Amino acid sequence: MEKFFITTPIYYVNSKPHIGHAYTTIIADAFARYYRFKLGDDNVFFLTGTDEHGAKIAQSAEKLGKTPQEFCDEISGQFKNSWQNLSIEPNDFIRTTEERHEEVVKKILSTLKEAKTPKGNDVIFKGNYEGLYCVGCESYKKETDLIDGKCPDHGTAPEFLHEENYYFKLSDFGDAIAEKIRKDEIRILPQERKNEVLSFIEQGLEDIAISREQVKWGIKLPFDENQTTYVWIDALVNYISALGFPDSENYKKFWPADVHLLGKDILKFHCIIWPAILIAADLPLPKDLFIHGYFTIDGQKMSKTLGNVIDPNEIVFEYGAEAARYLIISQFAFGQDGDVKAEEFKIKFNADLANGLGNLVSRTLGMIEKYCGGKIPAGKYNADLDLNNLWTVVDANYSNYRILENLKEIWNAISWCDGYIAAQKPWVLAKENKQAELEQVLYNALEIIRHIAFLILPVLPQTSEKILDLLKVAKTDFESAKQINGLTVGAQLTQTEPLFLRK
Ligand code: MSP
Repeated sequence: MEKFFITTPIYYVNSKPHIGHAYTTIIADAFARYYRFKLGDDNVFFLTGTDEHGAKIAQSAEKLGKTPQEFCDEISGQFKNSWQNLSIEPNDFIRTTEERHEEVVKKILSTLKEAKTPKGNDVIFKGNYEGLYCVGCESYKKETDLIDGKCPDHGTAPEFLHEENYYFKLSDFGDAIAEKIRKDEIRILPQERKNEVLSFIEQGLEDIAISREQVKWGIKLPFDENQTTYVWIDALVNYISALGFPDSENYKKFWPADVHLLGKDILKFHCIIWPAILIAADLPLPKDLFIHGYFTIDGQKMSKTLGNVIDPNEIVFEYGAEAARYLIISQFAFGQDGDVKAEEFKIKFNADLANGLGNLVSRTLGMIEKYCGGKIPAGKYNADLDLNNLWTVVDANYSNYRILENLKEIWNAISWCDGYIAAQKPWVLAKENKQAELEQVLYNALEIIRHIAFLILPVLPQTSEKILDLLKVAKTDFESAKQINGLTVGAQLTQTEPLFLRK
């Protein structure tokens, strides 16, 4: 792999950022940081942004007496701020109300208008539709999708719509998409999600409306000014519009995406509609789609009505950006659902950050000060913890989106090092005047800490930098970081404040 293009979904601006949005975005940021480190900054592109058109947004703006654009500017700004507060550094933040995006949507629609399906039919045709539309989902629903007449995801009754729309002949694309998914030309992960998509396709795909007559807040169709583009078609195109499709260097370099990250609720849009658009437009398909689970809070769905929505900024306020990143993404395995219990943040903060990582660094530096005059002692790494293997495992886990497993590996190394110090007892070696042995033990501990500092870089970027500064290790390239015996013997170290203060 020479380049890495990772995306998050673009978030609807009808509500403020919450912990679910933060979860995907922090993980994407961690992946981007890992691959920037491994492949070089210029070879990674991390994209996020906001999804700003459609009936849902227009209605939310109207309720507040604002114009849709004012409303979008405000909430999109809140997303940007929240990401800054969490040290999230995307290469670009796309907004679907930007001209650069609207132009590309029109270009794609014009291409589709001329295109044929794999079965030789027109991709776009005009038709009438009557049906139940859920504004929350921004999609039509079947009677059988509803529970007591209401959308199960939004708890609201869909409205009955009758419109003349333009259609996308999705029903002609099922076989082509299924084949690409089966052959892993589009890799859908985890495996159960791949099966879910395939069995959905097997049941037969229905054509979808790609324009709306009654929605004004949207991108006008290039071939019919009286209709606006269906918000999902508009939104999916962000993944190429942000790169500057079709002629820019970024597009040529970074498309297709190496991975789109998304939640399970938007699986069909990404795994069926998006590939169909790309096949119809004769464009390359994304390589991986990784589908993650849902956060519940104390066993309940997060919702405004229940008042249990967690604002990621509150976690930053309480614990700082670094810890917030760690706490949010270490809740459950990436790809599964998981429940968040707010009181567990504190327990985990104390156990893993203040006591675990923070304490290992400060106690080791304390001993260097006490027993080695503050200087890195001479030594050659000879502890039993296999650091080369640790890097190999971590790299493989990144390739398989196993980020929680990586945190576990790193924290196991921290515990291993704690145990090693406890077993070797440098304080006893000091009393027995075994200075050479003592120095070797502390050298090993420092070398493990140096590796840990590089390994935590994707998730805890500032802490990584702080530890490397403390160890007088220069920021270096990936291959040099992984070398064993990378410490500068004789460097004078300084003591510092604890990295994380116990709560
Ligand atoms: N705008 C669309 C995406 C368009 S992408 C071309 C959208 N936006 S959203 O703001 O509603 O959701 C964005 C992402 O947040 C989705 O991946 C969704 O799964 C995720 N989450 C929303 N609530 C969540 C939880 N409670 N837990 C985890 N992720 C959640 O859909």
